[in-house]
Amino acid sequence: MEPLAQPLALPCGASLPNRFCKSAMTEGLADADDRATERHETLYRRWSEGGAGLLLTGNVQVDRRYLERPGNVVCDGNGGLEELRTWVAAGTCGGNHLWMQISHPGRQCTRMSSSRPVSASAVKMRGMVGLMAAPRALEASEIRDVIHRFVHVATAARDAGFNGVQLHAAHGYLLSQFLSPRTNQRTDEWGGPLENRARLLRDVVASVRDAVGSEFAIGVKLNSADFQKGGFTNEESAQVARWLAELGVDLLEISGGNYEQMAVIGRLDSDEKGKRESTRRREAYFLEYARLIRDAAPELPLMVTGGFRSIAPMRAAVESGEVDVVGIARPFCVMPDLPLRVLSGEVDSLPSPEKHLRLGAGFLGSTSPIHGIRTLNGQAELAWFYHQIVALSEGREPQLGLGSWSALFAHFSRELGVARRRTFRRSAGALPASTETRV
Ligand SMILES: Cc1cc2nc3c(=O)[nH]c(=O)nc-3n(C[C@H](O)[C@H](O)[C@H](O)COP(=O)(O)O)c2cc1C
Repeated sequence: MEPLAQPLALPCGASLPNRFCKSAMTEGLADADDRATERHETLYRRWSEGGAGLLLTGNVQVDRRYLERPGNVVCDGNGGLEELRTWVAAGTCGGNHLWMQISHPGRQCTRMSSSRPVSASAVKMRGMVGLMAAPRALEASEIRDVIHRFVHVATAARDAGFNGVQLHAAHGYLLSQFLSPRTNQRTDEWGGPLENRARLLRDVVASVRDAVGSEFAIGVKLNSADFQKGGFTNEESAQVARWLAELGVDLLEISGGNYEQMAVIGRLDSDEKGKRESTRRREAYFLEYARLIRDAAPELPLMVTGGFRSIAPMRAAVESGEVDVVGIARPFCVMPDLPLRVLSGEVDSLPSPEKHLRLGAGFLGSTSPIHGIRTLNGQAELAWFYHQIVALSEGREPQLGLGSWSALFAHFSRELGVARRRTFRRSAGALPASTETRV
């Protein structure tokens, strides 16, 4: 049997119908009260009909005060359970699993939602051209509140009918900020040695498991490393994976990088490039690291995301047991039914439009020595994919001819519109601007 078509049994007892996962991609489609909309339905129905065994939602936020972008779905007492149920019905119509990705952006919080974000420590981001404000360190009591919020969203996801949740501990968001010594400089029980830096993630996983029971799938997305000097390392990540296996995690997704170092979409700053050349040649950015995890925690189901484009390496990775699930994100924006096409033998490679989006080399290009310019280039590339997601959510086909700078401009105007509508709803008293504690 085709290895990619085989079902996968998870520790919780559930089974994924095949080895394809559409990894999380933020949608930006929520309404002004941060609830899911018909656009989520249209988008996920299309993806569900496309044949992936597992669909992960874009990051759903635990606190309306701190968003990764306006248009994030939030689940913090703002209602919206019915909307979540409708989302589930559409997103599982193909018989696949649909898991909600749950996140807190920490310092990677857009200024459009907060001018005073929070983090493990007050470490400002570098080179973000003013898109994010300087964070303050969370108080110990606020850290406990964050744990309750993750539990609240996971419970709501289970009640709404999602087949599982994925806790986002990668890409420099809050749980990842606690893991990394660059962003976690605390001297209390939440900082210092790895055991302390990993305490928040471990407490969140354990508390979510207590709340949702043993038969509900819990996944975690973890960085293989930050790829930054003094950051979270491969060895630390392997130790965290061991702890997650002990906690009964059902699927560990391996990724890497953060907003400052966009290894997540295959962009590494020059000081890291040489070191990672062998991995880059291998197409899937984090596959080598997956072996380290396999050895560290052989019983933990593993998924690797980032760079998979040819079918042969995907099949080989699953057949050899290097990974259990193949995570794919960007190609789903332009070929939403890619699993069906691969499994029927129609295609032997996936589209990689990102190759044509790299904005030249040199001073104003993607290899610019100026960090702010590289950041804008990265944002333009992401905006191109955001635009395709919007098109799919409106029942349209992807717009392959769109330029990345046009996409960036359209994206910022759209985000500003969504942010204004949120502010208006709050100033009209429709929804309080904040919840001090979980509700
Ligand atoms: C438009 C876009 C949005 C993304 N949003 C998220 C997200 O909400 N959560 C997350 O964990 N990763 C997110 N990612 C990262 C992807 O899940 C994935 O790790 C990355 O794109 C590498 O996989 P790929 O090479 O198959 O695209 C996003 C990526 C893109 C391009």
